[in-house]
Amino acid sequence: MSNRSIAVFFVAVASLLALKRVLLQQPMDNRDAVYIVDAVVTRHQDPSECFHAKKHNITKHRYGLLPKPFINLGMPKMGSSSLQTFFTCGDYNSSHYECGKELCADCMKRAVSNSNSPLSSCGGFDAFVQMDDGSFFPQIEYLNEIHEESPNATFLLTFRGMDGWYRSISHWPPNADTTNPPLVMSNRMKRANITGLPSGVGNNVNEFSQWFCSHVNNVRDFVKRHPSHALIEIDIEDRNVGERLGKFFGIRDACWGHANKNPGLSGRN
Ligand SMILES: *[C@@H]1O[C@H](CO)[C@@H](O)[C@H](O)[C@H]1NC(C)=O
Ligand SMILES: *[C@@H]1O[C@H](CO)[C@@H](O)[C@H](O)[C@H]1NC(C)=O
Ligand SMILES: *[C@@H]1O[C@H](CO)[C@@H](O)[C@H](O)[C@H]1NC(C)=O
Ligand SMILES: *[C@@H]1O[C@H](CO)[C@@H](O)[C@H](O)[C@H]1NC(C)=O
Repeated sequence: MSNRSIAVFFVAVASLLALKRVLLQQPMDNRDAVYIVDAVVTRHQDPSECFHAKKHNITKHRYGLLPKPFINLGMPKMGSSSLQTFFTCGDYNSSHYECGKELCADCMKRAVSNSNSPLSSCGGFDAFVQMDDGSFFPQIEYLNEIHEESPNATFLLTFRGMDGWYRSISHWPPNADTTNPPLVMSNRMKRANITGLPSGVGNNVNEFSQWFCSHVNNVRDFVKRHPSHALIEIDIEDRNVGERLGKFFGIRDACWGHANKNPGLSGRN
């Protein structure tokens, strides 16, 4: 036997013994099952991969030619205002939270429940940079419908550090945490029944991080299964994001950058 097969043999024996210990010493309840599955999953993939944007490049001949609409599948308080400024500055019409006179989330929910297409029914914008209203998330619930309507749509997915994001959503809108806690975005998300964040979940940065992670994994899987979509992942805290997005979308770099007026980031300008 080669050294390698000997090693494999011992690892297999050790794993079986460990499994036997778990199975025999403790009653096999759901928690054990989850624990064993987790151990297997985390050995094979870096659990933190979902927290970092993959900075894939698109090929040069697609610069400025990515198909519309440009749809941000990211979370609220994660760069959507900067995207709105960016696309508007680049002469695209873009919707942010509101699609005309109503919330994009309400409009899309109605469209889908009437078997209509969610994008063209809600303004047919060139860009949709925030479709959710903090309680209902078309970017989570309606990926299939969006794909059916617009199989070549270009997706964006925004990333930022989880601590900063949690601080943002638990202090938005300004002062609500002291004057009207139920209005605070994180509390609204916790009350809502969102896929991946059922009612009652959303008590701390860990629960929000897990939700974010599962969303990122779902979006990446979806695009793998539907490769007609380009997926542009962006770290909104990266100082090169304007340059990168400018190149990909054929928009002046300077159209990004209002994000840097954020007082929390001003020290780095
Ligand atoms: C993308 O392109 C830039 C320069 O155009 C290069 O510095 C970077 O390494 C590339 N990224 C990847 C993931 O290939
Ligand atoms: C946005 O522009 C597209 C053309 O690119 C147009 O079809 C659509 O009606 C416009 N939407 C709004 C709300 O102006
Ligand atoms: C999507 O892109 C493919 C390949 O470029 C093209 O053949 C197809 O017509 C496009 N579909 C739509 C709905 O634009
Ligand atoms: C939350 O949504 C899921 C899936 O749509 C549903 O099965 C469940 O009953 C809902 N829970 C509550 C508390 O509304």
